[in-house]
Amino acid sequence: MILLKSRKEIELIRESCIIVAETLQLVKKYVKPGVTTGELDKIAEDYIRSNDAVPAFKGYKPAGMEPYPASICSSIDDQVVHGIPGHRVLREGEIISIDVGVIRKKYYGDAALTVAVGNIDDEKRRLMEITEKSLYIGIEQAVKGNRIGDISAAVQEYVESNGFSVVRDLCGHGVGKHLHEDPQVPNYGSRKTGALIKDGLTIAIEPMVNAGTYRVNVAEDGWTIVTADGKASAHYEHTIAVIDGRTEILTRI
Ligand code: MF3
Ligand code: CO
Repeated sequence: MILLKSRKEIELIRESCIIVAETLQLVKKYVKPGVTTGELDKIAEDYIRSNDAVPAFKGYKPAGMEPYPASICSSIDDQVVHGIPGHRVLREGEIISIDVGVIRKKYYGDAALTVAVGNIDDEKRRLMEITEKSLYIGIEQAVKGNRIGDISAAVQEYVESNGFSVVRDLCGHGVGKHLHEDPQVPNYGSRKTGALIKDGLTIAIEPMVNAGTYRVNVAEDGWTIVTADGKASAHYEHTIAVIDGRTEILTRI
């Protein structure tokens, strides 16, 4: 069931989303060779808590899984999403997706971006650019009267026409009252299918784009999603809302 939000609720979601966006910009500044992902996690958690908010991922427990142990997801190179921060040291040439979720006053925000560690090769740079652009192409379709499948198809067409692939096993999602709500927002699909986009819809659109195959596996830690062929992956995410027929990106500052 899709939970459409009132204006008041969207303003609360926006407050959480602003903290998410600020956290991402803060963490991005610390991404350099030699830094550990655990250090990035601490910077994020401290910032979120100092804003009277709580990291939404910490302790998040889907059925049959261990609770997620950290405040951010940090996913490097062939890690697609849900990489657990820890002792791993960032090295020049890597790309790292940082994903942040926040809950404040019972409302959630969720966003992610990918950052280069020092100089990166041309393929990774292109992968990052195409993935970020695909997010905005998806957002353009997230307008009143369209359907979720219009977002999905636009992302998929753009990514595949640029020679990359979209992950199928994970999706964007409704967000706001919960971290994950209906509807699912796949990054592949057909136009004119899926739920109708209406005022009050709040969703996280999050293309996960692989340089090689779209196929992924779960790593030994039970959380980290990795590409099946070991090639790099990038990930960008915004929480957006449809208000009075207009689409607003809530996690952009
Ligand atoms: N943005 C990610 C998602 O929507 C965050 C989930 S990480 C988790 O799937 F650790 F909380 F699962
Ligand atoms: Co998300």
